[in-house]
Amino acid sequence: MDDPRGDMERHESPPSLWPVGAIGAALVAVCGFLWARDVVRGGRATTVATAPPLEEGRAPGAPPIPADKGEAAMPEPAPGERFPRNVFLENATLGLGAIIGGVVTLPVIGFAVMPAFLKQHSHEVDLGPISNFQEGQYVVATFLREPSQGEVSRRTAFIRNNGLLHGKPSFTCISNRCAHLGCPVQPGGPTFDDKSKTVKTPSGQVSLIPSLPAAGFICPCHGGTYDQEGNRIAGPPVRGLDRFEFWIRNGNLILGNTYSVAQVTGTGANAEIKRYTLTGPGQHVDGIESWLYPLQPPH
Ligand code: FES
Repeated sequence: MDDPRGDMERHESPPSLWPVGAIGAALVAVCGFLWARDVVRGGRATTVATAPPLEEGRAPGAPPIPADKGEAAMPEPAPGERFPRNVFLENATLGLGAIIGGVVTLPVIGFAVMPAFLKQHSHEVDLGPISNFQEGQYVVATFLREPSQGEVSRRTAFIRNNGLLHGKPSFTCISNRCAHLGCPVQPGGPTFDDKSKTVKTPSGQVSLIPSLPAAGFICPCHGGTYDQEGNRIAGPPVRGLDRFEFWIRNGNLILGNTYSVAQVTGTGANAEIKRYTLTGPGQHVDGIESWLYPLQPPH
């Protein structure tokens, strides 16, 4: 199996908030420990003095004793002496701190850990013989990515045969999902329906329509515009169009998973692609903005 995927430099995902989660978890653990310790001990050793009866010695009917006269209502507390209310307030403060720490931290930890359990499924779609893809021409390929799921898994890719790269077939395989809000992007030029083909492959029926996207790719929703390599050139999208992994098997073009792209330099077989883990529409994959939106929903 030829595999032309290896010539693309892989970049890691944008930074995440996991350090915040770790610090928060440590705070929760410390506060929880202190709170539990005090609860188990039943509060600190407490000595409560019994106050003498109020105005002891005053005869019935006699005028009240002035505040600055007579015995103190209760003895002066000894140094270090503590009272039930102090202990209660201390425990309540620690408990409240632990609860607040948990409320702040748990969502962060959840988002940091969840992606490990929500890995992108591996997809593989056979688009049929590479001879169906004329060199230098874009083809709009439509297929079911997961036939068992039916029409909801229908996807469209813009495929261009770039000829040979180091003796191996090279293709540009661009997703039509807009990088703004996910609308289906259209070719910025004519499509030739009269030359369309429907190919039966091991992955099901694949529709292939030749196209001439001279103006690149255009999103009808908010006017996002991309060049022929999928780079954003105008409008609200925050990055280039996603791409499909691809490889050749038994002379057929196979599409794999999608990945996100920050920027493509060069064209066709000589394109250099900055590749990132698949990221949702509207999210930056590089630059300072990627720090502002580090949490990724599942895709
Ligand atoms: S969804 Fe494409 S420009 Fe808004």
